[in-house]
Amino acid sequence: MAMLQVKHWKTEWRVRRQVLFSFLFCLCQAVSDQIHYSIPEEMERESLVGNIANDLGLNIKDFSSRKLRIVPSAKKQYFTVNSENGNLYVNERLDREEMCGKSDTCFLNVETVVENPLNVFHIKFTILDINDNAPSFFNSNIDLEISESISPGARFALERAEDPDIGTNSLRNYQLSPNQFFIMEEKESTDGKKYAELMLEKPLDREKQNTFTFILTASDGGDPIRTCTAQINIKVTDVNDNFPTFTQKIYKASLKENTPIGFVVLQVKANDKDEGSNAQITYSFKNMPGSTRQVFSLDPRSGEITINGNLDFEEINSFQFDMEAKDGGGLASHCTVLIEVLDENDNAPEITITSLSTPIPEDSPPGTVIALIKVHDQDYGANGEVTCRVQDDFPIKIISSSSNYYKVITDSNLDRELISEYNVTIVATDKGYPTLSTSKTIQIQITDKNDNAPIFEQNSYLVYLPENNLSGSFLISVSATDTDFDQNSRITYSIVNSNIKTLPVSAYVSINSLTGIIYAQRSFDYEEFREFQFQVKAEDSGSPFLSSNCTVKVFIEDRNDNAPKILYPSLGSDGSAFFEMVSPSADRGYLVTKVVAVDADSGHNAWLSYKLLQAIEPVLFSIGLHSGEIRTSRAFMDRDAVKQRLVILVQDNGKPPLSSTVTMNMIFAENIQEALPELSKQPRASENQSELNFYLVMSLALISFLFLAIVVLVIVKKCIRSRKPSVLQCLGSDIYSKSDLRFPQHYNDGTLPYTYQVCTASESGKNEFTFLEPKVERLDDLIFPDKCATRYRSKQDITDKSQTDTYQEVS
Ligand SMILES: *[C@@H]1O[C@H](CO)[C@@H](O)[C@H](O)[C@H]1NC(C)=O
Ligand SMILES: *[C@@H]1O[C@H](CO)[C@@H](O)[C@H](O)[C@H]1NC(C)=O
Repeated sequence: MAMLQVKHWKTEWRVRRQVLFSFLFCLCQAVSDQIHYSIPEEMERESLVGNIANDLGLNIKDFSSRKLRIVPSAKKQYFTVNSENGNLYVNERLDREEMCGKSDTCFLNVETVVENPLNVFHIKFTILDINDNAPSFFNSNIDLEISESISPGARFALERAEDPDIGTNSLRNYQLSPNQFFIMEEKESTDGKKYAELMLEKPLDREKQNTFTFILTASDGGDPIRTCTAQINIKVTDVNDNFPTFTQKIYKASLKENTPIGFVVLQVKANDKDEGSNAQITYSFKNMPGSTRQVFSLDPRSGEITINGNLDFEEINSFQFDMEAKDGGGLASHCTVLIEVLDENDNAPEITITSLSTPIPEDSPPGTVIALIKVHDQDYGANGEVTCRVQDDFPIKIISSSSNYYKVITDSNLDRELISEYNVTIVATDKGYPTLSTSKTIQIQITDKNDNAPIFEQNSYLVYLPENNLSGSFLISVSATDTDFDQNSRITYSIVNSNIKTLPVSAYVSINSLTGIIYAQRSFDYEEFREFQFQVKAEDSGSPFLSSNCTVKVFIEDRNDNAPKILYPSLGSDGSAFFEMVSPSADRGYLVTKVVAVDADSGHNAWLSYKLLQAIEPVLFSIGLHSGEIRTSRAFMDRDAVKQRLVILVQDNGKPPLSSTVTMNMIFAENIQEALPELSKQPRASENQSELNFYLVMSLALISFLFLAIVVLVIVKKCIRSRKPSVLQCLGSDIYSKSDLRFPQHYNDGTLPYTYQVCTASESGKNEFTFLEPKVERLDDLIFPDKCATRYRSKQDITDKSQTDTYQEVS
């Protein structure tokens, strides 16, 4: 019954308190000395519990006099009583959990004392539980570490919650926040306490989710329900269940060759979802050829690949190798690295001379191949494209033959005499940027061909050689040069065979075939011939040889080696003197006769002068210094001797001069009869033995004179008859008086400015020597050199007045 009442009270406690107390009072009436109150814990102070006076059946009127009081307990004084009206009030906080702990029932006994009469009453209080405590966890955070490798079904007991309340107010159940991985089961321990257990429902993956946070809620059964929560922190611990994975399957990089050492090519990167050492990745090269290993180096921690050696495109233009990433747990994976090397123009072209033909002959036609060269550039593309040229301006060029091959050929005709050696510099340039080039010099020698004839220093040589030279004397040295080389320029001299005046030229001159010195082979006589010429040939030793020639003209110079020769008067064969008849009545200046002399020499050497060397009567006769005309210088007088003897000296103008003398006898008589006595006296005057000779001479002279006269007549007659003005003039001219007899017509070129030289100049050498030939020594020829005179007229165009004047002066 009581329990039901209590329960009832519990629901409507605060509203019906008074009613309840009354009910309780009634209940307590039965046991007069003991009353029983049931009150909930945690009532407020001063709350009214009941009226003791009523409940004990005491009279209200004398109640105050009875002095009811509560026996003080050793512990707390939980209640007080109003001594006036007997109301019982809560004095202290009533905590069932504190007073009775976990026991199901909780009583409190209080004793009261009344006086008049003294009586003791026992009051029993039943403290009822109210849900004043929420469940609580000892730790509001529950930390768990679970390996990700744990398989589903595994269980983890959790800390339980405590609720000091009892009965329904105590812990009723647990709840877990919803999640995919765990479920919660409630369990009861042997002492009947409830606790929660976590069970793994699905496998964990730390890499997906490495922590879980749940809220565990504990609820009691009170009204209202009180709850508490704890946070479950689950940390999933790692298991090396993940392979490292590279960020790329293939890593590619392009590098210029000659990239410096230390340059970072690329960085490979692998990720490992694990953690800790399971995620600590070490990189290494895999499947790498040894040569490549030297080129790259790797940082095993960072995965940085750096250059460690020289990259040479020409050697290797790409690298491929694998890389491994291994985590601390030993799991590994691989990737491939491709490194492409880009070409740089780092190689100059190379020139190789495949064949070279040197020396080459200078007569090689244009286009002759001198050399074959090969040009190669290790670089790629434009960096390896090469062009070739010849550096200098030579008659040599380069043409492309086939790929990479070039021919060096002659471009035009060569001439060793101009350039005998070419240093041909071949330049090969590639098309890279910047361009690189190489040059190579080949030496090309040109061999000689006998393509140049010897050349004489002069086309013609003139030699002036004094006559009467010694045989073997030096004449002249001729010299020729040949621009060819060696054998082709070795010159030998020779004299071209010809005849000079029926004799071979070798009879006159000889030559030293090596030196070109020409010697006279004989002594020359100016009077014999005055000039000759021959040809000298210079011949080289080439094959075939080449030659050229020159002309050597030799002029023999006159020496005064001939004495004047007196032609008229001529001495008799016995050496007797010449007689000349002079009329005694002849006037002063009468031309008695003329001494005619010639000199085989020429020029000054033949310039004759006449002098009277001896005379009986020196003043009676005079002789023209140059004309040789003997004239009377005064009239004959009776006291003069009838016969006069004259010695005449004819002297040339040479140095030293040479001279001849002639003796003449002059007889003054009108006719031969008159003269005869004088002639007969001759032997007496001179020698008797020559008397006969005298007659002979006389008769000869006479005959000669007559003959002369006849010839003169004949010529005069001839001239008149022909009536040619030139001839008339010729003879009538004063220019050609007898005086020209003095000078031989061969009196030669340029030595003296005489007019007659024109005549001789136009005449051939043959005529020049006519005087020397016996048949010409005819008097008439000498006195009347008509041919000469005639020729002179016909050549009047070249005879100018000055020449004429000169002549007149001399005469
Ligand atoms: C060519 O080169 C050679 C060697 O260097 C040198 O002796 C020669 O004089 C050169 N010839 C010419 C024509 O430059
Ligand atoms: C000499 O040379 C001339 C021209 O230079 C030539 O006409 C002549 O034939 C040559 N004579 C000889 C013998 O070689």
